[in-house]
Amino acid sequence: MFGKLSDYTQDGQIITLHYEKQTAYLHVLTDKIINVFVPYYTKDHRSKAVEGNKEQQVSFTLEKIMSGEDRTQNTDSYTADSARYVLTTPSLSCRIYDDFKLDFYDKDGTLLCADYRGSRTPRFAISESLIELIKMEGHNVDVKTGVDHPVQCVKTLDKADCIYGLGDKTGSLNKRHYEYENWNSDIPDPHEDSFKSLYKSIPFFITLKEKGVYGIFYDNTFKSYFNFGKENNDYYSFGSDNGNLDYYFIGGDSMPDIVAGYTYLTGRMPLPQKWTLGYHQSRWGYDSEETFRDIAGQLRANRIPCDAIHFDIDYMERFKVFTWDKTRFADPKTLLSDFKKQGIKAVTIIDPGVKVEKDYDMYEEGIACGYYAKTPEGETYINAVWPGDAVYPDFGKPEVRKWWGEHLRFYTDLGVAGIWNDMNEPASFNGPLPDDVVFTDEDRPSTHAEMHNVYGHNMAKATYEGWKKLTGKRPFVITRACYGGSQKYATAWTGDNQSLWTHLRMAIPQQCNLGLSGMPFVGTDIGGFGADTTPELMARWIQVGCFSPLFRNHCAKGSMNQEPWLFGEEVLSIYRKYVELRYSLLPYFYDLCRVCEQTGLPVIRPLVLHYEDDINVRNMNDEFLVGESLLVAPVVDQGVTKRLVYLPKGIWYDYHTHMEYQGGEYYPVDAPLDTCPIFVKAGAIIPKAPAQMYVDEIPDPDLILEVWQGEGSYVHYRDNGEDFAYRDGAYNEYLCENKGDHDLVIQKLHEGYKDYPAIRIEYIS
Ligand code: GLC
Repeated sequence: MFGKLSDYTQDGQIITLHYEKQTAYLHVLTDKIINVFVPYYTKDHRSKAVEGNKEQQVSFTLEKIMSGEDRTQNTDSYTADSARYVLTTPSLSCRIYDDFKLDFYDKDGTLLCADYRGSRTPRFAISESLIELIKMEGHNVDVKTGVDHPVQCVKTLDKADCIYGLGDKTGSLNKRHYEYENWNSDIPDPHEDSFKSLYKSIPFFITLKEKGVYGIFYDNTFKSYFNFGKENNDYYSFGSDNGNLDYYFIGGDSMPDIVAGYTYLTGRMPLPQKWTLGYHQSRWGYDSEETFRDIAGQLRANRIPCDAIHFDIDYMERFKVFTWDKTRFADPKTLLSDFKKQGIKAVTIIDPGVKVEKDYDMYEEGIACGYYAKTPEGETYINAVWPGDAVYPDFGKPEVRKWWGEHLRFYTDLGVAGIWNDMNEPASFNGPLPDDVVFTDEDRPSTHAEMHNVYGHNMAKATYEGWKKLTGKRPFVITRACYGGSQKYATAWTGDNQSLWTHLRMAIPQQCNLGLSGMPFVGTDIGGFGADTTPELMARWIQVGCFSPLFRNHCAKGSMNQEPWLFGEEVLSIYRKYVELRYSLLPYFYDLCRVCEQTGLPVIRPLVLHYEDDINVRNMNDEFLVGESLLVAPVVDQGVTKRLVYLPKGIWYDYHTHMEYQGGEYYPVDAPLDTCPIFVKAGAIIPKAPAQMYVDEIPDPDLILEVWQGEGSYVHYRDNGEDFAYRDGAYNEYLCENKGDHDLVIQKLHEGYKDYPAIRIEYIS
């Protein structure tokens, strides 16, 4: 397809490779990140994920390879004679061949990632007639493997390679042997392992090898396909229906290094407001002022700490966004200010679909300005969502984002504290939007086919920017649909799960992979959205959910209510215990958010992120880390009250009993219904807060430092938890050093904010 490499030209850190039939580019962005670009579709990148110039000055070399020299280092499957050049940075090298084959090596010369040279040979194929026969019994036959995509890349797989990331995809932590698609989808059926796509398109994955690791970010917004060795165990592929071949090869010494590289490129989650890390109560179906007051009252009466109640679509007048139903809510402003007095914030849902209705300002204004997506013939495109016939704001246009953002004043004026963007895949009830519906990509007309996967991203961006301008505070925006880089604008939940044990189990790998994919502030609907939860499932879900950065109980209209007080005294007290645990750990969670903004490391982490050389954790689906210090091994199966826990190397302590364990072993651990096994790494310092019903109920609480046996150091962060003053230095940072034997030394690394009234040190021994 590319032919022979005739020569190259170099402009700064961009190398243009002139092949017989096609021009390709390599851009050395940092010593660890190289962009690979073939402009099939547009001349430039037009990335929605990578904003701003990410090039750092790197000294690299580009040398011609002599064929004899190459022969010793080349992969078995490729003839050495065609090797042409080697590009070497301080951390990586890339060998460049004819036909635009590229092989990446680490700095020691170990091969990390080679382009696959053979022909694609699916390991499974069946005849058309057999497919027909199988379908007759109603089976869904899906043998699409082996299909070449207009844009694609095929790379070799080694036997031990494990693959992680790719956002919110279903199934297990390790994506090896599975295939997926990126096409943001709102599918209410129970999400199973065989689902190819869910709500988010985050085309980033990490390949962990027996020795070595790398990441690839495939920046293409068209419908994309990822086959991680399902088609053939010797190779994996990624490709799309259209667009450019535009990917970033990310090298590094460890998995955290790769995550840091990816989030350097696509951005990191800005610090959230502190209250957003508290507990949120929600239900689709709370539909009157009376119900909301009752829920707030019950939360407080039952002593369940809570910071926010969510208003689902029922608050609107006939599902019209930017309206509030006056018949069911006499005075939303007073309701919200009464909530405020109780320490409860309101978060309102806003969907993108605007009802087609004469004299409805959002509709009329948007039509007059040409702000909605159009048919190829130039008519406003209409589909249907909750309000019936609806039109779709063209969020790819900067002026539409601005307009939408300004309208958010409707909510800020009422005292709303955060926005929940839903249905922004975008969802449509009248069949899928055709590929050729006209959307805009900033300054040029585009299509639904190209903009679909970034629709939610652009909506979240509009909301984030508008809210920031209106309030000056750190915006709290939740989104369902995402693309790579959405972490800069929004937190996300995993959409419409169900009250199923399989979905509780899936919550762990799903949140871990979202975290590895740059989205740290995530959560599942606790208790399950669809179907009916059971008391036991509820008790176990809160034990997982209390560690999710986004901590929200939410469920569907038509399913059984799942407020915590509806399951009897035992479940209520278990529920309270874990919400209280979360509130006590809020300073730790907040510190983790700070780490995240600095390094891209997520809050919830798979064990493999910190113990990548330990083969026992490469497929660990039912344990996770919270930061580096806490290991959670919840029960995710019905009826189970004892489970095996694997602890990685080092010494660990049972959080509840303080019993000591030597890592590198499996242990049977008791886990009665009220106990979620939690372990603390030796030497850990855990910052904690005193008991509160909501964040800052005690205006300036003391800090509690829980100091565990062993040695370790920890940086604790403190600021006003609300606005961006910290970016101008209004924060404190404390270096805490645990020297063992009840000796803790605290040193201030940065002072720009007030100190704690008191720091209480609790030694655990
Ligand atoms: C979608 C959302 C869900 C919400 C419902 C009604 O199904 O995923 O969270 O409750 O719409 O707005």
